[in-house]
Amino acid sequence: MSTNSPFAESFAGPLATSLCGVPLANPLIAAAGTCGYVRELADAFDLRRIGAVTTKSITHEPREGNAPWRMWGIPGGMLNAIGLANVGLERFLSEKLPGARDLGCTLIGSIAGHSVEDYVAVAQAFDAEPSLPLVELNVSCPNTADGLQFGEHPAALRELLGAVRPTLARTRMLVKLSPNVGDIVAMARAAIDGGADGLTLINTVSAMGIDVERRTPILSRGTGGLSGPAVHAIAVRMVHQVYRAVAKDAGIPIVGLGGVSTWEDAAEFILAGAHCVGIGTALFVDPRTPLAVARGLEAWVRRQGARNVSELVGGLR
Ligand SMILES: Cc1cc2nc3c(=O)[nH]c(=O)nc-3n(C[C@H](O)[C@H](O)[C@H](O)COP(=O)(O)O)c2cc1C
Repeated sequence: MSTNSPFAESFAGPLATSLCGVPLANPLIAAAGTCGYVRELADAFDLRRIGAVTTKSITHEPREGNAPWRMWGIPGGMLNAIGLANVGLERFLSEKLPGARDLGCTLIGSIAGHSVEDYVAVAQAFDAEPSLPLVELNVSCPNTADGLQFGEHPAALRELLGAVRPTLARTRMLVKLSPNVGDIVAMARAAIDGGADGLTLINTVSAMGIDVERRTPILSRGTGGLSGPAVHAIAVRMVHQVYRAVAKDAGIPIVGLGGVSTWEDAAEFILAGAHCVGIGTALFVDPRTPLAVARGLEAWVRRQGARNVSELVGGLR
């Protein structure tokens, strides 16, 4: 499998790994929506020092997103209801992707939409773009047809993947699951049945904050998504469940995501069954967090007596 990274062949050391056959310098991935169109994060460090960087979710048409407030810090994390604000597919390809491509890091193109056709249009365009070896389907968007989310119903997810999968001839497909479901294993199974090459767990947890003086919701949309340390233990539990119940036997790698700010958080995900670890909200606190996590993770892998981090995936006793 070829990637856009000129260094792909030279990755070595205890953290060198791969995701769905795509070689990565290490298992750390900057999460969708927390590093803009990728270039924004490049001011903080050389992005080739982490495994991959995910774009914010791109929709077929441009979207303004929700009115303020759409991000709000709370103890233990952050509430957000950005509403998929993005420049749309056409401007992403012409204005944003070239700048990201020049950085030489491994890119993951995040795809969102409000209809099956939206997803298909973006997926087709991303598949034609060699600098995107991986795409990630953000299925936590309300489907305008019935108001439900693709990521909250196995049948809706299967229908979506049934249309998107055939359009991806070259690109590996990650499906990012929503934690706002009763049975995360059923959703993972639907994603794998639908042809997912890998799973990302989790998106934000449905949540709400209230301004008690005004007696109004803090976020303009009313409810939003919770991220950051507060969701980490939920994400670890879901990665563990999905790994044990379905991903391990199917040979489907998991990207553990949610509340990682230290190497210990990342190590928990790996022991629970994640091949890679996403970092989102922590980038707003310190955009260099992935470098500190990588240093700590490497020392931990050595202390555990493993030659490579992949030996510790699912290593929970
Ligand atoms: C401000 C903000 C914007 C986000 N935008 C997206 C997005 O565009 N697409 C997506 O799939 N997830 C998006 N997410 C979710 C994150 O990628 C991640 O799944 C979630 O925040 C949990 O990880 P964390 O606790 O490390 O942030 C966003 C999260 C935040 C905080």
